[in-house]
Amino acid sequence: MLVDGKPYRTVWIEEDGTTVGIIDQRKLPFTFETVSLKSTGDACYAIREMLVRGAGCIGAVAAHGMYLAAQECLKATVSPESFDELLAEKGTQLCETRPTAMNLAWAVERALAEVGGEDCTQAKVVRAGGVAVEVADEDAEWCHSIGKHGFSVIESIFSKKGKNDPVNILTHCNAGWLAFVDYGSATAPIYAAHDAGIPVHVWVDETRPRNQGARLTAWELAQHGVPHTVIVDNVGGHLMQHGEVDLCITGTDRTTYTGDVANKIGTYLKALAAKDNDIPFYVALPSSTFDWKTRDGVREIPIEERDGTEVAWIGGDYEGGEREVKLVAGDSPVANYAFDVTPARLVSGLITERGICEADETDIRRLFPEKFSES
Ligand code: MRU
Repeated sequence: MLVDGKPYRTVWIEEDGTTVGIIDQRKLPFTFETVSLKSTGDACYAIREMLVRGAGCIGAVAAHGMYLAAQECLKATVSPESFDELLAEKGTQLCETRPTAMNLAWAVERALAEVGGEDCTQAKVVRAGGVAVEVADEDAEWCHSIGKHGFSVIESIFSKKGKNDPVNILTHCNAGWLAFVDYGSATAPIYAAHDAGIPVHVWVDETRPRNQGARLTAWELAQHGVPHTVIVDNVGGHLMQHGEVDLCITGTDRTTYTGDVANKIGTYLKALAAKDNDIPFYVALPSSTFDWKTRDGVREIPIEERDGTEVAWIGGDYEGGEREVKLVAGDSPVANYAFDVTPARLVSGLITERGICEADETDIRRLFPEKFSES
């Protein structure tokens, strides 16, 4: 995507061929800054501290982290066996940074499997670099396809509305290109519709506590010229009751093979309100976000609990500098659940790179039959 007219992805191997570049999302939208990752520790820090976040982006940064890890293994070990052992340990360190994110484990496992297939240590490093590039390219390609499939949903709503009446889409958190390598999941159909001349308007949930909607999604949409309005998280139900929302599209951090969707905290409440108001609620995801082993999302998906300071404090721009202020007085305890699970029954459809399916095992199986025979 373009940032001030210059094309960017969210992760890349730098010109030196060894270090990894990322965008520091914590600084957006007020400052655009890139950061160079030089070690597995740097990659873990970037994921844990949320310099990078979002399903596909975390996966791609993890794959690049495995490339950094492989370079370290080359220096620290002598045999292919000890190389693989150390790489697995570093993979575990990466996986432990964000427990709910599916793409993270998916990318690490993929790197381990492919690197393990090489029998000399030098070739293992080259393969780790290759996997990182493949994961990133694939993520961008899949999100592009999600855009094409999701476009049909927006187009069909538009065809039933007045000619100049924009399609009003509500989204939660940031499932835009910053959350992937390019295009985004929830935003890809929106960009596709906007680029095709369909008038769209996006209701952007601010997404407490870290405000990824207000800070990231709004910035992305503005960069692309997509009309949008930032709202506080509790407005969605009111807008739905008054006919101001035609469609909800969100992303997901993990979706079970039965269609239960883990996403940023607050998504479940939007899905309930959408159901009550008969508004389609779609979830966009590449296949790398499916959890092919878990049946019951509400009971089995681990929900990350983050530091309470994210709730008790709020940051923003103050006269050209980022400032934090305290919201909660005294020592009142705060709880910070990062995700919730929307049961499949509330989801109208899943928009994937292979097309749209219902949020149930049978239809997910229709699109991804090989995933079921693997497990
Ligand atoms: O806390 P975050 O920003 O890591 O939350 C994850 C997300 O970005 C959202 O849940 C998003 O909507 C799905 S990931 C594309």
